[in-house]
Amino acid sequence: MTERTSIHGQWSSRLVFILAATGSAVGLGNIWKFPYITGEHGGGAFVLVYLLCIAVVGIPIMMAEVMLGRRGRQSPINTMTSLAKEEGAGSAWSLVGWSAVLAGFIILSYYSVIAGWALAYVFRVAGGIFNGADAAGVQTVFTDLTGDPERLIAWHTLFMLMSMTVVARGVRAGLEKAVIYLMPALFVLLFVMLGYAMSTGAFIEGLKFLFEPDFGKLFYACETVAGVENCELSGGPVLVAMGHAFFTLSLGMGAIMVYGSYMPKGISIARSAVLIALLDTLVALVAGMAIFPIVFANGLEPGSGPGLIFQTLPIAFGAMPGGQIFGTLFFVLLVFAAWTSAISLIEPAVAWLVENRGLSRVRAAGVIGMTTWVLGLGSIFSFNIWSGDEYKLFGMTFFDLLDYLAANIMLPLGGLLIALFAGWLMKRESSMDEFAMQARRYDLWRVLIRYISPLAVVVVFLNAIGIF
Ligand code: TRP
Repeated sequence: MTERTSIHGQWSSRLVFILAATGSAVGLGNIWKFPYITGEHGGGAFVLVYLLCIAVVGIPIMMAEVMLGRRGRQSPINTMTSLAKEEGAGSAWSLVGWSAVLAGFIILSYYSVIAGWALAYVFRVAGGIFNGADAAGVQTVFTDLTGDPERLIAWHTLFMLMSMTVVARGVRAGLEKAVIYLMPALFVLLFVMLGYAMSTGAFIEGLKFLFEPDFGKLFYACETVAGVENCELSGGPVLVAMGHAFFTLSLGMGAIMVYGSYMPKGISIARSAVLIALLDTLVALVAGMAIFPIVFANGLEPGSGPGLIFQTLPIAFGAMPGGQIFGTLFFVLLVFAAWTSAISLIEPAVAWLVENRGLSRVRAAGVIGMTTWVLGLGSIFSFNIWSGDEYKLFGMTFFDLLDYLAANIMLPLGGLLIALFAGWLMKRESSMDEFAMQARRYDLWRVLIRYISPLAVVVVFLNAIGIF
C-alpha cells in the first residue's frame, strides 16, 4: 500500500496529538455529565461499570479508531470507504462514517446549549452573585437562567460561533496552542475544588457514594411520575454507564478517527490511547470527588439531573476565600474544555464537505454550525417551554431523548461496527503494520477487539432491552 497523506494537514508532534485528543475527550462529559448521571444511578456500582467499560471496551476501540484514521487519512466517511475497498469488504461500511456525522450533529446541538450555561456562569460568578449564597439562592440563579429561552439562545449562539471559528481556521492555527496551557490549568483548578470539598466535612460521605458499590441500585431504574417515585428492575443504568464510556472518550462517531488521520506516522497508538483514557478518567473522578461532598454537605439531592454542577459548585465558590476568582476561572476553563471537545464533534463532517463537496473550511464550518444551531433550539426549549409532560416521549424531554439516542445507542453501535471492522474484516497484516507494536500486546488488543468489546456491547444492549 502506498502511504497516504491527509489534505487537511498533520499534528506537529506526538504531544500535540495527545493534547488534541485529550482536549476532545475531556469536556462537559467529565465535569458535567459524569457527576449527574452517577448521582442519578446511585453511585459506586455505576462508577465501577463505567471504569470496566473504559478498560475493556473504550481503550481497544480508541486504538482501533486511531489506527483506522491514520491508515485512511481522510474524513471518517471516506476513510471507511477506502479501507473497506482495500480490505475487500462491502461499501456498506461507509455507513459507519455517515452515522458518525449524524451523531456528531446531534451531540453538538445539545452540547453547545450546556456549554452556553457554563459561559453564562462565568459572568455570574465573576459578578459576585454567589458570594455567601446558600443552596436555595444558587438554585434560583439556575432556574432563572434555564427558564429563559432568550438568554439560553444567546449563550448557545455565542458558543456555536466560537466552535465554528476554530474549525474554520483549521485545527492547527488556533487550538493547538491554547490547549497546551488550558488543559493543565483545568487540572490544577479541579484540585483546588477537591481541596475545598475535603474541608466540607462530608468528604468521606462523598467518597463512599462514588466508590462503594451498591449493586441493588444499579439494576433498578426509577422514574418520578406526578411526585411518586416508581422503581423497576432494569438494565438501563448499565447501558448508560457503557454509553458514557463512549461519550467521555469521544468514541463511536469518528472524532478520534479523524484526529488519528492527522497523526504523524511512527507514534505509538497504544500508548497514546492508554494515556488519553487515563487522563480522561482522572478528570472525571476528581470532578466527582469535588462535587459529591458539596452535595451532601448542603443536603442536596445527588440525582437532581443536568443542573447538578451548576447548583452545587457555586455554593462552594460563594463560601470559600477567593471563591469569586477561583469560580470564574473554573467556569472559564470548563468552557475551554467544552470548546476543545466541540470542535472534534464537527471536524468529521467539515472534513467530508471539504473533501467531497470542495467547500472551503470556512463555508463547511458555517453550514454545519448553522444546522446544529437550529437543532439546539429543541434542547433549549426542553428546559422551559417544552418541559411539561405533554412534550415528553418515554418520560424524556427532547434534550434527554437526543442525549439518550446519541450517547447510549448511536455511539455504542458505531463502536461495535468499528470493532467488527478492525477486528474481523481488516487483515491481520494491515492492522499489525499500522500499530507497529510488540506481538504480545498486539495479540491482546486483537482478542479484546474481536471478542470482548463486541460481546460486551451486545450483552449490555440485550440486557437493556430486557432480553436477559
Ligand atoms: N468527550 C467529550 C466530553 O466528554 C464529548 C465529545 C467530544 C464526544 N467529541 C465526541 C462525545 C465524540 C462522543 C463522540 O465532553
